[in-house]
Amino acid sequence: MYLVLLGPPGGGKGTQAKRLQETHGLVQLSTGDMLRAAVASGSDVGRRAKAVMDAGQLVSDEIVIAIIDERLDQPDVAKGAIFDGFPRTVAQAEALDAMLARKGKKLDLAIEVRVPDEFIVERITGRYTCAKCGAGYHDTFQKPKVDGICDSCGGTEFVRRPDDRVETVTKRLETYHAQTAPLLPYYEGKGTLKVVDGTREIVEVTRALEDILGGIG
Ligand code: AP5
Repeated sequence: MYLVLLGPPGGGKGTQAKRLQETHGLVQLSTGDMLRAAVASGSDVGRRAKAVMDAGQLVSDEIVIAIIDERLDQPDVAKGAIFDGFPRTVAQAEALDAMLARKGKKLDLAIEVRVPDEFIVERITGRYTCAKCGAGYHDTFQKPKVDGICDSCGGTEFVRRPDDRVETVTKRLETYHAQTAPLLPYYEGKGTLKVVDGTREIVEVTRALEDILGGIG
């Protein structure tokens, strides 16, 4: 099954993709994570992407489409994947349809995790991750069981993303509404769009997603 998770920055796409990855064995493909890895490696793509990401704008379609195209050739995604943060423009959505078609596959579903803007600043500015294993946490909504110790790996160092500052969040939301929200009518027109209420608690959002996935087998 190939599934796209759509929604605003900080809306919970990554959180839910990780949970579905565990329960459904679908590989999470996050272009944000891939671009951050490229930045950390100091590669040419990383150098070109860093300033754009820090400013809350979109990296070029050409770069992210090439990253996904290459990733989709790897055997672990032959049976399915959850696209998290991709596509983000109509051009990327069209490219994804074409890439999957070339491999004899198709996108089964696009699910919008719907979260109004007023929730987003608190979600994003409270987010942090384990520096060792990347497990995600939140100052208020998703604390580790023992303060200062990662539930998954026992790590004690945590990091915050450079683009998770209040000033950048506003720009990221503007970018979302201008360039990514048009994907909602795009997928609605194809009959593949479903919507879940992303303002509920994390486990409730997962349950709503599970209901949809269960319904398509
Ligand atoms: P990316 O990494 O994709 O960032 P994003 O879309 O802005 O999404 P986030 O990762 O910020 O949020 P999320 O929805 O995954 O929320 P999360 O689950 O962490 O992209 C970063 C940048 O890379 C972009 O700005 C762009 O420059 C570039 N880029 C990436 N892909 C691109 C593409 N395709 N094209 C061009 N450029 C691209 O949740 C947030 C917090 O809230 C967490 O702390 C979590 O614990 C908490 N939380 C989650 N769900 C709930 C809930 N239900 N209730 C309470 N708290 C919750």
